[in-house]
Amino acid sequence: MRKEYLIAGNWKMFKTIAESREFVRALAKEFSAAPGLEVVVFPPYTSLAATHGLEAKIKIGAQNMFFEEKGAFTGEISPLMLQELADCVLVGHSERREIFAESDEDVNKKLKTALKFNLPPVLCVGETLPEREAGKTLPKVRQQLEMALQGVAGANMEKITVAYEPIWAIGTGRNATPAQAQEVHHFIGQTLQEIAPGSRIKILYGGSVKPENSLELLSQEDISGVLVGGASLKVDQFSAIIQNALKLLNA
Ligand code: PGA
Repeated sequence: MRKEYLIAGNWKMFKTIAESREFVRALAKEFSAAPGLEVVVFPPYTSLAATHGLEAKIKIGAQNMFFEEKGAFTGEISPLMLQELADCVLVGHSERREIFAESDEDVNKKLKTALKFNLPPVLCVGETLPEREAGKTLPKVRQQLEMALQGVAGANMEKITVAYEPIWAIGTGRNATPAQAQEVHHFIGQTLQEIAPGSRIKILYGGSVKPENSLELLSQEDISGVLVGGASLKVDQFSAIIQNALKLLNA
């Protein structure tokens, strides 16, 4: 029997304000709040104000933020601003790292600033296909964790959630097998214990999660939830994934 699951939906650059509100309202009708179940969606910035606090059982997160509090940074959004609009924030998603050239140092600064402003960060890590094929998955993930968490005080560690998202599985329809995911999750758990002994940190799997593969992924010992992209844009698909978590919580 499992004690808790976090089911998160990353909408990326999809949905207008009206569509976001409609989605959150409709999703809330599809499931009942349950002990141990946490549901979060990450709409684009433009929809945060319209969705935050709209439904008590659906938390709202931001997809990104800048690491400065305020200043001459045209186009950027700071954690100070997000505090009023979001319950948590994604940090270091692979699309930020790859398309917008975010470095491990940037990710580290963002993570520390998010913690400073009491915005629990969801830190994304994961390897590319060439790295997996070269047997470098575990060292890559370890390096990303070590760099992102540098200088984070032990007491803050439990506010962080880690999302393991193999880049080759994101938006490709090709998910990691439950066994592949479990292996990396177990390794991440061990690494986090070395960095912060005794801490309890949730580790989500992300990369082509769908209703059909979610039950088996969520059944893995070290998988404490999922970060869903494409399938989080449709109420029926996302709620089917939530139902699978509820099944396991009630098993
Ligand atoms: P996907 O995206 O579910 O569409 O593969 C996951 C993510 O990028 O977080």
